Amino acid sequence: MEDMRIPEGMEELYQDLDRILITGEEIQQQVRELGKRITRDYAGKKPVMICILKGASIFFADLIREIGLPLSVDFMAISSYGSATKSTGVVRILKDLDKDILDRDVIVVEDIVDSGITLNYLMSILKQRGAKTLKVAALLDKPARRKVKDLVVDYSCFDIPDAFVVGYGLDYDQVYRNLPDIGALSPTVYEGK
Ligand code: IMP
Ligand code: MG
Repeated sequence: MEDMRIPEGMEELYQDLDRILITGEEIQQQVRELGKRITRDYAGKKPVMICILKGASIFFADLIREIGLPLSVDFMAISSYGSATKSTGVVRILKDLDKDILDRDVIVVEDIVDSGITLNYLMSILKQRGAKTLKVAALLDKPARRKVKDLVVDYSCFDIPDAFVVGYGLDYDQVYRNLPDIGALSPTVYEGK
């Protein structure tokens, strides 16, 4: 804990972390790189960027400001049934897109791909709606936990080990989304729940 650089006034929230995995500065650097890559890959196109609420909201806000294209944005909220730290694969749409994605170049922006079950389900729904192209940009990837083996994560910023992480949009029980860094939540916080 001594080597954690805790932002002033955030001591209480950081108390529940075992360690900081990725600092806010490291995130910004990778997000900038990803923005440049997407700008190059979609040159001449007008992609629709879909933010998967709520986890991807902070990543999304930073990422789109690093992309130099006439993109448009839309939002979708889904919930996967399961416990707070594991998903089951059944996805419910809580808020659907405002606009049709037929014949559009679509980039889905997700916070984290863990088992891959949620994203796989979501992609199959979006595919049926006739997007011209459909890709995924995820902030974090936990490849060791993947259950859907053939799931392609087109863009990701960081591969992380098998730990439950919070911060920069990611939550545990709706808390910790506002941490500027990404940290491993101490198991004592969720054990026995
Ligand atoms: P999957 O279906 O197992 O890939 O789970 C994906 C969803 O579970 C993500 O969109 C997150 O909302 C949540 N999730 C998975 N791992 C973590 C984590 O380490 N911290 C916070 N949320 C997580
Ligand atoms: Mg979540």
